[in-house]
Amino acid sequence: MEIINIGTDIEEVSRFENLDTKVLNRLFTEEELKYSGTKKNKAEHLAVRYCAKEAVFKALPFDKIAFKKIQVINDKSGAPIVTVKDKRAKDLCFKISLSHTKNFAQAVVLVYKK
Ligand SMILES: CC(C)(COP(=O)(O)OP(=O)(O)OC[C@H]1O[C@@H](n2cnc3c(N)ncnc32)[C@H](O)[C@@H]1OP(=O)(O)O)[C@@H](O)C(=O)NCCC(=O)NCCS
Repeated sequence: MEIINIGTDIEEVSRFENLDTKVLNRLFTEEELKYSGTKKNKAEHLAVRYCAKEAVFKALPFDKIAFKKIQVINDKSGAPIVTVKDKRAKDLCFKISLSHTKNFAQAVVLVYKK
């Protein structure tokens, strides 16, 4: 395994409370909006997904990527999984950890090659 980089981000949940549909659709994938929309604390789940995108962006070995191309879904156990839909990321693997409270959300990511 070759470690490429780490990344992190923290956001205030309140920023994600009243986003309009246009902004939501620019930042988040359909799956992310669906997952967050089923939760009572929707803004926390959106905020933490935004953190994940920022954290991944910081750690990628290239720049200029639309946030919507960085997606977080959850496996059966609830653990988050990152995919980056860009051919420049085809050899990259990601491990991510997310956490959120009423006020703050944060993400930490490790980018590596197998
Ligand atoms: C999964 C768990 C660790 C989440 O912790 P939490 O303090 O409730 O919530 P946090 O805000 O820190 O983390 C939430 C995020 O954890 C992630 N998560 C959920 N399940 C996970 C798992 N199995 N593994 C890794 N990450 C997980 C998710 O990304 C989630 O955010 P999301 O739903 O928006 O994607 C917790 O709910 C849990 O199951 N704890 C088990 C504790 C336990 O068994 N204790 C026994 C002795 S008391």
